Amino acid sequence: MLTTVGLLGFGNVGSGVAKLIKTEGGLIADKLGWPLKLAKCLVRDLNAARGFEPEPGLLTTDPSEVVGNPEVQVVCELIGGVEPAKTLILRALEAGQHVVTANKALLATHGLEIFRKASEVNRDVMFEAAVAGAIPVIRTLKEGLTANRIQALYGILNGTTNHIITRMSKDALTFAEALAEAQAAGFAEADPTADVEGHDAAHKLVLLSALAYGVLPKLDDIHVEGITKLDPIDFAFAAEFGYVIKLLATASLHNGQGPLEVRLHPTMLPAGHLLSGVNGVMNAITIRGHASGDIFLSGPGAGMMPTASSVVGDIIEVARTHQSLESSLRPPILGWRKLKSDSVMPMSEALLGYYLRLTVLDRPGVLSAISGILGAHNISIAQVIQRGQNNLTGWVDLVMLTHKALEKDLQKALVATRELEAVREARLIRVEESL
Ligand SMILES: NC(=O)c1ccc[n+]([C@@H]2O[C@H](COP(=O)([O-])OP(=O)(O)OC[C@H]3O[C@@H](n4cnc5c(N)ncnc54)[C@H](OP(=O)(O)O)[C@@H]3O)[C@@H](O)[C@H]2O)c1
Repeated sequence: MLTTVGLLGFGNVGSGVAKLIKTEGGLIADKLGWPLKLAKCLVRDLNAARGFEPEPGLLTTDPSEVVGNPEVQVVCELIGGVEPAKTLILRALEAGQHVVTANKALLATHGLEIFRKASEVNRDVMFEAAVAGAIPVIRTLKEGLTANRIQALYGILNGTTNHIITRMSKDALTFAEALAEAQAAGFAEADPTADVEGHDAAHKLVLLSALAYGVLPKLDDIHVEGITKLDPIDFAFAAEFGYVIKLLATASLHNGQGPLEVRLHPTMLPAGHLLSGVNGVMNAITIRGHASGDIFLSGPGAGMMPTASSVVGDIIEVARTHQSLESSLRPPILGWRKLKSDSVMPMSEALLGYYLRLTVLDRPGVLSAISGILGAHNISIAQVIQRGQNNLTGWVDLVMLTHKALEKDLQKALVATRELEAVREARLIRVEESL
């Protein structure tokens, strides 16, 4: 069995999708039970430079080689904008193809027509990548939280504006300075209007509202306010009051009952709030279910591979549900077709940093004896603190942070250290610097 995929667009996201399908073919087949095959990809310019080199003959400028091509089962729309994306999606559905798209602008404005057509022809339209890039928020709302009445959802849905706001807040840059810097670093488009005026985040908010409340609000009904009028002094005053400013998207039931309240604007949040710590280009969403309580999701909201991760996840899901049914192969319970019998790595091979607290006699030569033992076991010390002198007992705490070392070396060194007469106790806590 095989699932054949056609792409409409081979730009930033399209290249990432092609790369994942090509380089992770084995992994995908292990989970799905059969491979994905990229059949054809529609572009405008066959000779343009690509983020991932396509196989010869893969690109085409003829939409009918993807849409309506009986060899293509799943059509991925990664062109963006309204036309020709909308017409091609509707045509693909009519032709019996399933659709995966990352196009929030299209779904927020013409979603009803597209979703109606999909129901009419009994085909899927999946759009995990359209909201918050790699974060599986659509699936969480649609599947994991189905049994909940959603009381509120609020989040940071645009990485460009969050990056700008972070720089304004932490380094007192003006909006113009932070925007220019973001553009130079590739985090903002040459024309940043859709991001900084809040339109992009508003598109995502419309889709989240539909999933959470069954209402696809009209964009014109939503209060949308961007970040262009924010001044560094507002961030400074906010901090003095214990707040952080974020461009916050909110959908909730007013007073917990209704009507639906949907808005997007700069908002002061308490500095200790989880969303206040989400900085740079990261996105994050809190969903409050009446039964689940608060669920917090955070991750990269854009970029070639994070977005491709969601698109390919959707393709696999479509293949799994539809082809599994057709072939009476049940979707695998653990997500993998076959479980491997590989054993896990023994703890002794773990490479970690360590905090060591040794209770030692406060006398000359003890530190050098301990560091000699550590050195002999390939453990290097990053920092040492000796806390005070205990004149009554003569015992003091000697605290060390080590650089990364093998657990088996550390355990051997601890055994040797405990044998020293000047050491009464040796405790350790493992340190993760890079999580
Ligand atoms: N970039 C992100 O991080 C990100 C994140 C989340 C969602 N998205 C969404 O993903 C979609 C794609 O974004 P992107 O950044 O990949 O865009 P992009 O880099 O501009 O790529 C667009 C692709 O579509 C092709 N295309 C454009 N107009 C066409 C037409 N009329 N006929 C045929 N092909 C056409 C282009 O062909 P040529 O290459 O030949 O010009 C290009 O390959 C958008 O809906 C966007 O909102 C993007």
